[in-house]
Amino acid sequence: MRKTRIIGTGSYVPKMVLTNFDLENMVDTSDEWIIERTGIRERRIAGKDEASSDLAYEASLRALKASGVKAKDIDLIILATTTPDMAFPSTACILQDRLNARKAVAFDISAACSGFIYALSIADQFIKEGTYKFVLVVGSEVLSRITDWSDRTTCVLFGDGAGAAVLQSSTNRHGIISIHLHSDGALKDLLFIPGGGSRNPASKKTIEKGLHYIKMKGNETFKIAVRNLEEAALEATKSNNINASDIDLFIPHQANLRIIQAIAKRLDLSMDKVFVNIDRYGNTSAASIPIALDEAVSEGRLKEGDLILMEAFGGGLTWASALVRW
Ligand code: COA
Repeated sequence: MRKTRIIGTGSYVPKMVLTNFDLENMVDTSDEWIIERTGIRERRIAGKDEASSDLAYEASLRALKASGVKAKDIDLIILATTTPDMAFPSTACILQDRLNARKAVAFDISAACSGFIYALSIADQFIKEGTYKFVLVVGSEVLSRITDWSDRTTCVLFGDGAGAAVLQSSTNRHGIISIHLHSDGALKDLLFIPGGGSRNPASKKTIEKGLHYIKMKGNETFKIAVRNLEEAALEATKSNNINASDIDLFIPHQANLRIIQAIAKRLDLSMDKVFVNIDRYGNTSAASIPIALDEAVSEGRLKEGDLILMEAFGGGLTWASALVRW
């Protein structure tokens, strides 16, 4: 039976570092509060000339290099983002042009922080069906452009970055074992951007009201995230007849260290089996999982045959899991 295997990963974060101490000079907050409540110490901020496609391009070059696949051989590019370069064309099409991946079909998907796993699931279908051979899946975000830098309840959380993976079919035991996706639009008001779309098109008024910035009910989101991610992890393990203790590395969405620790505790997973880089990047939304995956690879945290569980949640609400045999 045909499976989908990740054959190369790459990531890119902008050079500029914004520390909690820098934030102390911008809003009424403290390094101590941010570390204690979120686990974040610093995050990266894109340069003035950098958009999502630029970050995606750098991450993609690295993933292609790691995989040994040439851009001209990529059949499909799926890019997950909440911060596209522009409404259209898709950031995936802009990336396709930059990479000179001439034969690739390219499109974006919008599933907020769950975007990378959603994109992975689409790629998995096309590869399993035999439609495409090589697929590039990317998560890229410049969240600093949609962050209200005067709102201390959100601006301490987010950062910019991109991660990418090249996928190919496999006929052995290595590859994606299962992906489970979930959505609940009834919870759309927990985390959203009200302005700039067809509901509230950009105007002087929407800008004055700050409707083009992320709005979040942090407390409620926190509780639902812990509950849904625990349920999703149990769904992934039960449906594959394994126990949480069989997981070699858990790669959760990096939104809040306390959320990650709460899930690990509920699954009875020790923190040395959990990949954490939130301290350095904050929440990079759709880029969070692929950056973490790429760092896990480059730090030698994954050996052939390891069982990895990736999990994400985000605006929509959306949440998802992917169980992978490395
Ligand atoms: N610095 C200092 N104080 C802050 C602050 C900041 N950056 N942000 C909020 N506070 C204050 C609040 O105003 C509140 O003060 P009050 O008690 O006087 O009203 C107090 O800290 C506690 O606020 P609360 O919102 O209850 O804190 P919390 O423990 O829930 O932490 C979050 C806030 C946002 C860190 C947390 O709720 C969270 O991470 N939620 C999930 C968000 C998330 O994951 N979003 C992305 C999903 S993909």
